[in-house]
Amino acid sequence: MKPEATPKMTVLGSPVGLRSILNSLVAFSIIVSFITFLFYQGQERNMPMAIEHDDQEMQAKVVAHHEQLRVKEAQVQLTAELPNDSKEECNWSTGWWVYDNVSRPMYSGLKCAFIFPELSCDKYGRKDVMYQHWRWQPHGCDLPRFNATRLLEKLRNKRLVFVGDSLNRNQWVSLVCMVEASIPDDRLKIRVFNGSLISFKAFEYNATIDFYWSPLLVESNSDDPIIHRVEYRIIRADRIEKHANAWRDADIIIFNSYVWWRKHKADMRMKVMYGSFEDGDARLEEVEMVDGFEIALKKLIEWLGDNIDKNRTRIFFAGSSPTHSWASNWGGVNRNKCLNETEPIYKVGYKAASTDYSMMEKAKSYFGTLEQKGICVEILNITELSDYRKDGHPTVFRKQFAVLTKEQMANPASYADCMHWCLPGVPDVWNEFLYGYLMYK
Ligand SMILES: *[C@@H]1O[C@H](CO)[C@@H](O)[C@H](O)[C@H]1NC(C)=O
Ligand SMILES: *[C@@H]1O[C@H](CO)[C@@H](O)[C@H](O)[C@H]1NC(C)=O
Ligand SMILES: *[C@@H]1O[C@H](CO)[C@@H](O)[C@H](O)[C@H]1NC(C)=O
Ligand SMILES: *[C@@H]1O[C@H](CO)[C@@H](O)[C@H](O)[C@H]1NC(C)=O
Ligand SMILES: *[C@@H]1O[C@H](CO)[C@@H](O)[C@H](O)[C@H]1NC(C)=O
Ligand SMILES: *[C@@H]1O[C@H](CO)[C@@H](O)[C@H](O)[C@H]1NC(C)=O
Ligand SMILES: *[C@@H]1O[C@H](CO)[C@@H](O)[C@H](O)[C@H]1NC(C)=O
Ligand SMILES: *[C@@H]1O[C@H](CO)[C@@H](O)[C@H](O)[C@H]1NC(C)=O
Ligand SMILES: *[C@@H]1O[C@H](CO)[C@@H](O)[C@H](O)[C@H]1NC(C)=O
Repeated sequence: MKPEATPKMTVLGSPVGLRSILNSLVAFSIIVSFITFLFYQGQERNMPMAIEHDDQEMQAKVVAHHEQLRVKEAQVQLTAELPNDSKEECNWSTGWWVYDNVSRPMYSGLKCAFIFPELSCDKYGRKDVMYQHWRWQPHGCDLPRFNATRLLEKLRNKRLVFVGDSLNRNQWVSLVCMVEASIPDDRLKIRVFNGSLISFKAFEYNATIDFYWSPLLVESNSDDPIIHRVEYRIIRADRIEKHANAWRDADIIIFNSYVWWRKHKADMRMKVMYGSFEDGDARLEEVEMVDGFEIALKKLIEWLGDNIDKNRTRIFFAGSSPTHSWASNWGGVNRNKCLNETEPIYKVGYKAASTDYSMMEKAKSYFGTLEQKGICVEILNITELSDYRKDGHPTVFRKQFAVLTKEQMANPASYADCMHWCLPGVPDVWNEFLYGYLMYK
């Protein structure tokens, strides 16, 4: 394993025209940042799984129980190995969560060599484990059963790239954990950090699974993955090339963009820069956040229309990932946010008032304009299923720069993360969607 470069605390590689603005900003992020990554593989790997019990009868019971589980597992495999395609209109996005401690979780977060500390909830003190045991059951069909080997075969000699914000990075970490367990030999896999790009490679397959940081899609003052302002945001309406260079050769791209366009305050607006300081025609406008989203989408779509080889590249857009910071949405106390939530919301058809479904509709209709060029952008619509999962977030059980102190842990209003997702957990299902599309659709 190569030692990882420690990210420098400086603003590097920002668009030239923005540098002067950037330099004057004391940029710091609370939402998304990571400084250190730990490797704790190995220490759990050889943990004995022996049942240390003298009582013969007890042992027999335990064995019988395990046998039952094995049989159950086999049944699950049989019924779900292939998708149930009997109904063309089967819609994965609507369904319900089934408690399933036999087939879930699909991997161990404690053993995943590539997990990030801010998502590794059980490692940082989360004691309840039910959140790892839910399987998504769509109405009228089953999701195809994820098989890492088959996915890697599909990705042989290919490059898949997630492009977006920390929620998309959350999904990337999930996919890497789902896949890496099937490659026990550490010499056959690697993760490399290079600025905005994090790359996972499976050497035997020459398969690459990357994440590229680009939270606002177009170039912006938030393009540094570690240092960026949360509230003062500037996008460049007509610049995407720098980012596009990082994914133009990909075979599969999964974009996302949602939380960065949400308002933190009622009067929050997006600054949009046209032209450039170099050319002397720089001009700054302020627009509603959601109008900024449309400006960025239009630029992305223009670029895709002009540059993408539709015979080669498959494009997805990951749906909005809901947050659970407003406990009053489900009858809780707002100051606790989602701390101590251990079960999903069971109300069928629940949609949180704070979740904006319309941005995804907007994206879908904009992407529709690419169809005349034969380019299809597929939407991974994971919003509603994630909306149910108020129990799925790291809250205070995470490490950011450091493990939270006792005082911080006792203050969920300020320190609970109810936006990202514990792993194993909800994003594993997002990747089951992705897998299903790649293998069967
Ligand atoms: C799935 O169902 C939802 C709600 O009925 C609908 O809005 C959406 O378009 C459907 N998606 C597909 C792919 O049919
Ligand atoms: C799984 O859940 C069932 C029902 O809650 C419980 O009876 C069983 O002991 C659990 N099995 C394991 C392996 O945790
Ligand atoms: C597919 O799903 C439908 C609706 O749930 C069910 O009636 C049918 O038996 C299933 N077919 C298979 C092959 O599992
Ligand atoms: C996964 O797919 C591989 C290759 O097709 C196959 O050999 C293996 O049995 C599958 N594993 C499971 C658990 O179905
Ligand atoms: C390995 O994969 C890359 C795409 O990630 C591809 O460009 C390259 O040709 C592949 N190498 C071989 C030897 O096939
Ligand atoms: C890092 O990325 C830059 C381009 O952004 C590239 O020139 C350089 O070779 C990469 N370094 C490594 C170690 O991959
Ligand atoms: C894409 O595939 C179609 C049909 O196979 C072919 O006619 C077309 O020339 C291809 N386009 C490119 C850019 O390779
Ligand atoms: C969360 O649970 C812990 C442990 O049971 C308890 O000490 C704490 O007071 C609870 N916090 C809230 C906000 O309910
Ligand atoms: C996504 O699915 C939900 C139901 O889960 C539906 O209400 C919504 O319209 C869908 N959105 C898009 C863009 O397909």
